[in-house]
Amino acid sequence: MERKVMFSAVQPSGIPTIGNYVGAIKNWVQFQDEYDCIYSLADLHTLTVKQVPAELRARSYELLALYLACGLDPEKSIIFAQSHVPQHAELTWVLNTMTYPGELARMTQFKDKSAHHAENINMGLMDYPVLMASDILLYGAHYVPIGADQKQHLEITRDLAIRFNNRYSPTFVVPEPLIPKMGARVMSLQDPTKKMSKSDENVNAFISMTDKPEDIIRKFKRAVTDSDMCVKYDVENKPGVSNLLTIYSIFTGKTVEEAEREFEGKGYGEFKQAVGEAVVEVLRPINEKKEALLKDKAYLNKVLADGKQKAEYLARKMLNKVYKKIGFIQL
Ligand code: TRP
Repeated sequence: MERKVMFSAVQPSGIPTIGNYVGAIKNWVQFQDEYDCIYSLADLHTLTVKQVPAELRARSYELLALYLACGLDPEKSIIFAQSHVPQHAELTWVLNTMTYPGELARMTQFKDKSAHHAENINMGLMDYPVLMASDILLYGAHYVPIGADQKQHLEITRDLAIRFNNRYSPTFVVPEPLIPKMGARVMSLQDPTKKMSKSDENVNAFISMTDKPEDIIRKFKRAVTDSDMCVKYDVENKPGVSNLLTIYSIFTGKTVEEAEREFEGKGYGEFKQAVGEAVVEVLRPINEKKEALLKDKAYLNKVLADGKQKAEYLARKMLNKVYKKIGFIQL
């Protein structure tokens, strides 16, 4: 049986947190055995907000190295940079002619980002979902693992696929989102009712994948809990402790019940130290690998060059089909 295609992408616009690791990267690694996976660095998308060129380049390598260190495998998956495959921009043009400004203006992320970057509301910021639709539709992806914040963008992608298929003839696969379940959600260490976010103003609220061990331990020690001194899972009444238990369980492979038993009668100090150490132990080998990879730019470039070649082969095939249906002259 033919394997289903999975596509996802991440913007090289910051270092992922352990929340991104648990909710996305870790799953992406596992999907590789079940699906034909295509993973992209969405560098074109980053231009929708102002970037410093040298930093963008450094962050792109950094993110690629981190993903490889986490277990994305260029032998199993196609790993490439969006800007290396020109068909993404080309399909975006075609889809733009079938997208209405009103559809894009009502996107939550567009409204949020417009408020945040009021001095730079550009066409790209508005067109962001159409570029994302092109990413997905070019590869005939059946599944798209995304965070809940990208759900609206996937809806537009589906609408555009259906619109094109109806106007011409069946061409695009209409993709399904894969959104991680609540249990796998890591919350802020400072406000455990909020999702952990790399853009939080308070650096103590999140653990970045590349934080140093001493910073990780310190942040867990400062994590907000409660005053009843009992390590029990109870999201309603003890959101902070429950979040730490979730993290401990994910990073040690123990169940939450096992963890509760382990810390019965012990204080929060000891518990928090153990959670910090569990995270440090998982991140240490990943970061060592990442640092080694970053020193080997020739290898990273080769991964990208191979990825570009494989991705472009598929993207060109799809775009040719689109151009033919539209009525462009085929040479
Ligand atoms: N917009 C996504 C994000 O910021 C990244 C992205 C770009 C993406 N293109 C994609 C995700 C295609 C899934 C599929 O999280």
